[in-house]
Amino acid sequence: MQPDVLGMLRHIALQITTAMLCLLMAGVANSELSSQPKPKVLKLAHNLPLTHSVHLAFVYLADQLQDVSNGQLILRLYPSSQMGDAIDTLQMLQIGALDLSKGTSSDLEPFESAYSLFNLPFLFQDEVHFDAVLKGVVGQRIMNKTRDRGFFCIASYVAGYRSFYARKPVKTPDDLKGMKIRVQVSPISLKMIRLMGGAPTPMPFGEVYTALQQGVVDAAENNEASWVNTRHFEVTRFFSETRHLSQPDFLVISTRVWDQLNEQQRQWLQEAVARSESFQRKQWQELTSTSRNIATQSGAEIIPVDRRAFRDAVTPLYEQFQENKEHKELLELILAAKGNS
Ligand code: GCU
Repeated sequence: MQPDVLGMLRHIALQITTAMLCLLMAGVANSELSSQPKPKVLKLAHNLPLTHSVHLAFVYLADQLQDVSNGQLILRLYPSSQMGDAIDTLQMLQIGALDLSKGTSSDLEPFESAYSLFNLPFLFQDEVHFDAVLKGVVGQRIMNKTRDRGFFCIASYVAGYRSFYARKPVKTPDDLKGMKIRVQVSPISLKMIRLMGGAPTPMPFGEVYTALQQGVVDAAENNEASWVNTRHFEVTRFFSETRHLSQPDFLVISTRVWDQLNEQQRQWLQEAVARSESFQRKQWQELTSTSRNIATQSGAEIIPVDRRAFRDAVTPLYEQFQENKEHKELLELILAAKGNS
């Protein structure tokens, strides 16, 4: 064979070998890539504004989840009712169309009547009592009750005390006469306002600012932070400290989604959730006092109220819990936990 033909053949053989080596290496790299698990993404939709303390706790939760799972479990947030109000998103959890959402005990009451216990006015003595109940047997029992109905709660967040705010001070139940008051969509909240003397108007959270501004309702009730972060304080300048209700916000997960997570993913989620709960609790006091300052510096007024007449007006609500054996027992446990706080 001619030497130049030989050289050419050698050259071709070398090229083929190099090409095969490259293909082999690409194959190895590819199979390494595909053996890395794809991160799992969970979607959380809720009805709160971006400035709300529970939304901030969810932002923190997303960070922590990224951290504990090393990027393998991702939380994507859809705030400000972009997927609907609280009832809509809770229903989406039930059919597995959404992974997580937020519900107050009022939002959850239509799905499970035991949540109405947390909607009882003047129930909790203080924050320690609140936490003892939520973190104790009563809280855990109620939070898990709806597992067979498509969702259950995996965290609770604090929401201080709700008071009335309006264009005028509300110092006695008499002042509520003839006033239309926005309430959350919960049977017990409707009864509470009627017993206090007002006219309850159920309405999703996202609609309250416009309703107050346009006079569709005369008053609403919430904690100081929500009065300010929703800017409701711009249109209702008197916050009357009835402090009649202390309701938890819950992080709710679809049962179907939970069942599909593996043991490791559940642990990551539980760890990150626990961190977000303590983060939000630590911030609460400061947030309340900052909100009070913002409101008063803008000229709004915070008015102390003698709460006794409001408390007396709602005692019939406690009686209704005597009719259901389980509710009666849970209420007794909640009241007994007072001593421990
Ligand atoms: C509070 C609570 C929210 C709730 C809102 C309401 O801000 O933290 O979760 O939606 O009250 O009155 O609807």
